[in-house]
Amino acid sequence: MVPSASSELLTLHEIVRQARSNLGDHAWHYIVGGAETETALRRNRWAIDRLALRPRVLRDVGEVSAAVEWFGHRLRLPILFAPIGGLEHFWDTGPIPVTQAAGEFGVPHMLSSVCACDIAEVAASAPSALKLFQIYVHGDPQWLDALIERVTGLGYTQICLTVDTAVYSRRERDLAQRNIRRANVPGREWQARLSWKDIARVRSRTRLPLILKGIASADDARIAVDHGVDAVYVSNHGGRQLDHGQGSMEVLPEVVEAVAGRLKVIVDGGFCRGTDIVKALCTGADLVALGRMQCVALAAGGKPVLMRLLELLEMEIRIAMALCGVSRVDQLNPAYIKVSESMLPTYTWGAFPMLEAALSAPPGPLSNHTSP
Ligand code: FNR
Repeated sequence: MVPSASSELLTLHEIVRQARSNLGDHAWHYIVGGAETETALRRNRWAIDRLALRPRVLRDVGEVSAAVEWFGHRLRLPILFAPIGGLEHFWDTGPIPVTQAAGEFGVPHMLSSVCACDIAEVAASAPSALKLFQIYVHGDPQWLDALIERVTGLGYTQICLTVDTAVYSRRERDLAQRNIRRANVPGREWQARLSWKDIARVRSRTRLPLILKGIASADDARIAVDHGVDAVYVSNHGGRQLDHGQGSMEVLPEVVEAVAGRLKVIVDGGFCRGTDIVKALCTGADLVALGRMQCVALAAGGKPVLMRLLELLEMEIRIAMALCGVSRVDQLNPAYIKVSESMLPTYTWGAFPMLEAALSAPPGPLSNHTSP
């Protein structure tokens, strides 16, 4: 069931609830799950939740903007829709509503090279959107060059190579569901053989901003700087690849320190709410990417719900900034956060304590009151 008006979704957890009721078990567990024990997935949430915010007061926050610059583009929010393969399992037109919602709202979408879609059709569906393209290398250097040339011609202006997927992990939730995926993707062996030599080669062949996704240490971030990469994307693939890795927000500080402003930093992994995103910005991330939140918004109702997701996040981010005494993103810094304890369950939807109740009892009609 698609809600009659996405504005009736008053909270982020209602988007998750709507997605759960629209999706079958295979698609739901494919979104929610991680690799093996799901420890890396849980650490993503834990590493965000354990950070406490440290507000300042009396700072004139009458006007708050969460807008940022990204490679010469003005973004309404420091948010990116992360690359997601298989979006067609959540909505019949797959990535099209994601690109359109991102473009209309004013944030970028990074299209996954393993979406079952016609890339030209996706690109044409949102001509003015800021479009990034993520690549799994499933062919030889000529294959890769041809793909980059093709997507460049279609209007993708930044290229990202995912480098944390040398081999496909054991996704036990999918296996338990008998939902067997990508056992024999043709050309997958090229991804396993990737090395820094390939990054140097790609760098020498394209002038577009080049992003490496799946950086999880200061050491690799420094090597990325040496290879002329434009942005490192700190990620453990949403806990879906190497299990027992660190949470992204544990790794982010060392990467920010290592790159020392020489290139841009994206982070993802467990980001569900405005305060989560503000914590990453305080740590030094330039953009925060959304994986599962994007999937559930798409499944909950396509483009209008994706727009609603961004609206609700914008509301939460601006409230958190105002209450921290900050009116612009570039004023956020590590002084506004401190490592404390996590007070929330560390599972995928741990950021939504109301979700359990919402799953069993949908909300009643709206009633309006004046706030005190
Ligand atoms: C992903 N992710 C992913 N990453 C990538 O580089 N290429 C891809 O095709 C996919 N596909 C994909 C499918 C699904 C269903 C999910 C949930 C994730 C990883 C994704 O880009 C991102 O790194 C994580 O989803 C971030 O964590 P959160 O926001 O989901 O917690």
